[in-house]
Amino acid sequence: MRSLLFLALAICSANALPTVHRFSRRADAVSVNPNPSTAPSNATAGCSSSSASDFLSQFSSTNHANLTLALSPSLGGNRTFLVHLPQNYDQSTPHALVLSFHGFKSAALKQEAITGFSEPGVLINGKGLVAVYPEGQFGPGKNGDESIRAWQGAPYSPPGVDDIGFTQALLAHLSDNLCLDSNRFYASGKSNGGGFTNLLACTPSTASLFAAFAPVSAALYAGANPADCAPGRSVPIINFHGLADTVIPFDGRDADKEGRTEYATPNITQYREAWAARNGCGAGTSSTKVGGRVKLSSHIALNQAPLISHPHENTTLKAFTCDSQVNGFTVDGLGHSWPGTAGLDGGVTTFNATTANIVPFFETYALGHL
Ligand SMILES: *[C@@H]1O[C@H](CO)[C@@H](O)[C@H](O)[C@H]1NC(C)=O
Ligand SMILES: *[C@@H]1O[C@H](CO)[C@@H](O)[C@H](O)[C@H]1NC(C)=O
Ligand SMILES: *[C@@H]1O[C@H](CO)[C@@H](O)[C@H](O)[C@H]1NC(C)=O
Ligand SMILES: *[C@@H]1O[C@H](CO)[C@@H](O)[C@H](O)[C@H]1NC(C)=O
Ligand SMILES: *[C@@H]1O[C@H](CO)[C@@H](O)[C@H](O)[C@H]1NC(C)=O
Ligand SMILES: *[C@@H]1O[C@H](CO)[C@@H](O)[C@H](O)[C@H]1NC(C)=O
Repeated sequence: MRSLLFLALAICSANALPTVHRFSRRADAVSVNPNPSTAPSNATAGCSSSSASDFLSQFSSTNHANLTLALSPSLGGNRTFLVHLPQNYDQSTPHALVLSFHGFKSAALKQEAITGFSEPGVLINGKGLVAVYPEGQFGPGKNGDESIRAWQGAPYSPPGVDDIGFTQALLAHLSDNLCLDSNRFYASGKSNGGGFTNLLACTPSTASLFAAFAPVSAALYAGANPADCAPGRSVPIINFHGLADTVIPFDGRDADKEGRTEYATPNITQYREAWAARNGCGAGTSSTKVGGRVKLSSHIALNQAPLISHPHENTTLKAFTCDSQVNGFTVDGLGHSWPGTAGLDGGVTTFNATTANIVPFFETYALGHL
């Protein structure tokens, strides 16, 4: 089953695996998931909650609710988050959940607009997904004297706020009040929120809660991408980064323009390779012919090249293929933006990263069934 996905990702694959060229008739398959996870749902407590109608009464006619969770000071106190329910939301059917974390200086509404996770027709496991856009607490900003929303793991994060703990509390609250599939929780984010998504993936207590992670144009400061990142499991990662990103440069840097080394960020190619190595996929696959078809196997030798394809104009995908894939999309000409056709986050691309790649990637993975 899983080898079908490898075939789909192997289209136009370069020199490493010449045998896959004959499957070029599947050239559109990257944007359509050929192999969604068939793991059963794991219904959360909200599916049988007697107070569900009280909770649902908070939602507007557009299926939105701007909610607040009163937490302890170490979890940031009163935490706000925007929730969008799919059009066909049903309190007795478990739905997938996507958390989407905004960037520095941004907030929930903008994150919803630029990602499109709330758009109609975005499905996981055949059902609309619940999209949640949490808001960071106010930190000191880059100059230390401002008040700007940010997530844990950056030099400008609000001191003493445990966003990992907040995320766990948020998942518990949503699980108690909505009918969710806890095997299909996914984390994603842009820039500072992408860095925090990476931190969730590096932290065992949260790496175990989400089936897959999508850090986009991620601000991978040391606090968000710790040198001792040890998630405790292999973690599916889909990552986008623009080659024209001047905020978080693709090549990485040792310090920002002011010479501040706490603003160092990694070479994105090496960042992806590090995830592939942690996941035990190394960097490639082996292939054998089985009944006239090419069967690609995971658990392969290290030091092979990843599968390279060009799923969109000016976009290169390097896929490190094993049970938990690392898919790195490099977008030529794109700046510090969530890739989208509408240019709602600055850069314009020929594809929407959310619908073309992130949601199909998420759908490949569910907990309890790797
Ligand atoms: C379902 O989720 C609960 C709570 O998250 C977990 O304890 C349990 O092991 C899960 N069951 C299955 C079958 O995955
Ligand atoms: C949280 O919100 C409640 C209700 O609005 C308010 O009474 C309380 O002071 C707030 N707590 C903090 C830490 O801001
Ligand atoms: C949600 O409400 C809080 C205040 O409770 C406000 O600061 C925030 O801007 C609101 N967010 C949205 C998306 O409406
Ligand atoms: C980034 O890392 C890759 C892989 O190690 C390497 O080939 C490339 O030269 C590096 N880029 C820079 C600017 O150092
Ligand atoms: C692709 O890149 C080329 C060269 O940078 C540029 O001229 C072209 O407009 C780009 N295409 C898209 C769709 O961004
Ligand atoms: C991308 O998303 C935008 C905004 O939701 C939408 O208008 C556009 O049709 C989408 N494009 C594609 C190719 O799906």
